[in-house]
Amino acid sequence: MLELKNITYQPQTGEKNVLDNINLKINENEIILICGKSGSGKTTLLEIISGLTDPQRGRIVWKNQEVNSRKRRWLCGLVFQFPERFFLGATIGKELKFGYKSIKDIKIKNVLNKVGLSKINLTTSPEKLSGGQQRRLAVAVQLLRNPNIILLDEPTAGLDWSMKNDVKDLILRLRSENSIIVVTHEPELFQGLKYRKFLLTAGKLKILGG
Ligand SMILES: Nc1ncnc2c1ncn2[C@@H]1O[C@H](COP(=O)(O)OP(=O)(O)O)[C@@H](O)[C@H]1O
Ligand SMILES: [Mg+2]
Repeated sequence: MLELKNITYQPQTGEKNVLDNINLKINENEIILICGKSGSGKTTLLEIISGLTDPQRGRIVWKNQEVNSRKRRWLCGLVFQFPERFFLGATIGKELKFGYKSIKDIKIKNVLNKVGLSKINLTTSPEKLSGGQQRRLAVAVQLLRNPNIILLDEPTAGLDWSMKNDVKDLILRLRSENSIIVVTHEPELFQGLKYRKFLLTAGKLKILGG
């Protein structure tokens, strides 16, 4: 579906390629886990896939057509690491409606249902939610944009153990309609899911198996 071909990226102020000739094919309704040490370029890779950054070399192809960064922003929903730090709305309802002139309540209901937040009160502040619920809200915000691919950067970072397992359930729910790329240093949390696992190291993406 989405295919990275020979992607090479060097930060403007950096000396080395952070990503060096990366090839990756992301299939429909597939889960991809990407592991790697801090600073190995995992976030950079997500930013390139989701169209926030352009690589210096290489091509990205969607359904046999090359796609520019603008198109990739349409196709992808990126949830940053610690997304709760970037909540802007005073209430959960405002957070979900942020940036839309009008949005149907049924659409909001649907995405909240999908992330397992159907019972929350939209008039409360996002800060009142638990850590795990905040992550779900951040995913819901992205789902409103109808992305084909969901990218989650360290979705379990900083969560209590009980909530870390919630993230696996969430990914399982999302898979029926999306491809999902998860950057994680805790791949063991995703045991039981069907995925392909990669290691990003020295600019190269190595397959570790599924
Ligand atoms: N704007 C930048 N200028 C210089 N170096 C950068 C820039 N952005 C990222 N880097 C470097 O690129 C490497 C990869 O960063 P990052 O993608 O955040 O890694 P990870 O998410 O795996 O921790 C790091 O060594 C970082 O220092
Ligand atoms: Mg990172």
